[in-house]
Amino acid sequence: MLLHIPGILDPSRLAHVRAELDRAEWTDGKETVGEFGARVKHNLQLPEASAVRQRLGAIVLDALAAHPLYHAAALPLRTLHPRFNRYEGGGHYGFHVDGAVMALPGGTQMRSDVSCTLFLAEPDEYDGGELVISDTYGEHEVKLPAGDLILYPSSSLHRVAPVTRGARIAAFFWVQSLVREDRHRLQLFELDASIQSLSRSGADPAAVLRLTGVYHNLLREWSGT
Ligand code: NI
Repeated sequence: MLLHIPGILDPSRLAHVRAELDRAEWTDGKETVGEFGARVKHNLQLPEASAVRQRLGAIVLDALAAHPLYHAAALPLRTLHPRFNRYEGGGHYGFHVDGAVMALPGGTQMRSDVSCTLFLAEPDEYDGGELVISDTYGEHEVKLPAGDLILYPSSSLHRVAPVTRGARIAAFFWVQSLVREDRHRLQLFELDASIQSLSRSGADPAAVLRLTGVYHNLLREWSGT
């Protein structure tokens, strides 16, 4: 599932995050990838242990927690604390697949099921910098307004096109979902949206209740690590 979720950060939170990032110290993005990734990754990131990353990541997580559409799509079990990157001066990231297993603080690990990019620069601030996601339907180019998020399967090949003017600033993170299979998450997302819509339209409450039961029983069947 490739899903655009608008308005994760409201204008005041976005302005605060951008102000902090615009005066932050950045480091080479190769630090958080393996040997193959280092050959194709040309960008800047906030250092892993940076206090700014911790603080701004918490703001992003707070905003996500309040967003029902995000929850319905990702069904999050574990989330890696957000990282922040910056592409400028031709910076790019060639085609790659994200690592399947991510280290969490405290020595535990999580599986990456869902990848998320939260755009923090407006599209007219930079040229290039499209997130290009390749799936069985072809290639999708994504460049969203600041504050909007794209959610896509971690199993997909993707790249970031070279930034030829200005700077592309984003947050990115991974989610281990309660539901491992992307196709199952999509079915649950569609069912959830239909139930919400039927509920709002005043449909027969007993029928809505039975459908809600189906949703939860499918979630029970498909969830598990
Ligand atoms: Ni990636």
